[in-house]
Amino acid sequence: MHNLLKQTMNYNRILLKLSGEALMGDRQYGIDPKRLSEYAKEIKQVVAKGIEVAIVIGGGNIFRGVAGAANGMDRVQGDHMGMLATCINGLALQSALEDEGVNTRLQTALEIKEIAEPYIKRRAIRHLEKGRVVIFGAGTGNPYFTTDTAAVLRAIEVNADAILKGTRVNGIYNVDPEKDANAVKYETITFKNIIEKGLKVMDMTAFTLSEENKLPIIVFDMNTNGNLLKLISGEKIGTIVNN
Ligand code: GTP
Repeated sequence: MHNLLKQTMNYNRILLKLSGEALMGDRQYGIDPKRLSEYAKEIKQVVAKGIEVAIVIGGGNIFRGVAGAANGMDRVQGDHMGMLATCINGLALQSALEDEGVNTRLQTALEIKEIAEPYIKRRAIRHLEKGRVVIFGAGTGNPYFTTDTAAVLRAIEVNADAILKGTRVNGIYNVDPEKDANAVKYETITFKNIIEKGLKVMDMTAFTLSEENKLPIIVFDMNTNGNLLKLISGEKIGTIVNN
């Protein structure tokens, strides 16, 4: 399947991973309504192309479990707060998408039935088949796991063609492009190569889960308008990681 991706970049179902921090825009914390609405418009364009879209969003703009632990808070407690933060972002994104007329469902790994559906794999797939954007909240529902791991897990579960990891950098470079002007971007790179070169794409749990299940990861700049649509239309945007 990834060979097909290399040649034709043909996506039917994608798992879009959005960073919580990106939702801050220029703010110090919380949600920037302008950025949120830009994201919703970008996603709408992709849905309009008939692509099935599932989304996992982080919560770092509101709370980070690791940061809480660093300040003396119990790690599990912190991670639970982080999971709730992803639900807040999920609700915000759902609302922004609905403002754009996009049908959505929010499913959460922790039950908060009054505000979202509980995560049920078969139901999530059915929603996707009906053209609804499914947002997965509360990460994996377990402490010590990142939302990147949740993104890989859900992508595998719903049989997505790839994870599109939206970042503020337009791909993977041999050295940090924000520190070195001579940094070179990879168009494609293997999981093995990334490990050998010591590059960081996701945490190791997420990364190995993706590698073991042959799930390609595309790292791209989500903050440039039109990039998401270009990517799914086959333009060489970002870096493709595969086996
Ligand atoms: P189809 O049966 O495929 O049409 O899907 P559906 O999601 O429209 O069906 P359903 O009648 O189950 O859901 C109608 C609405 O209720 C949707 O907006 C769901 O997101 C919402 N919903 C369903 N289950 C729950 C739940 O457990 N909690 C919350 N808060 N909303 C739910």
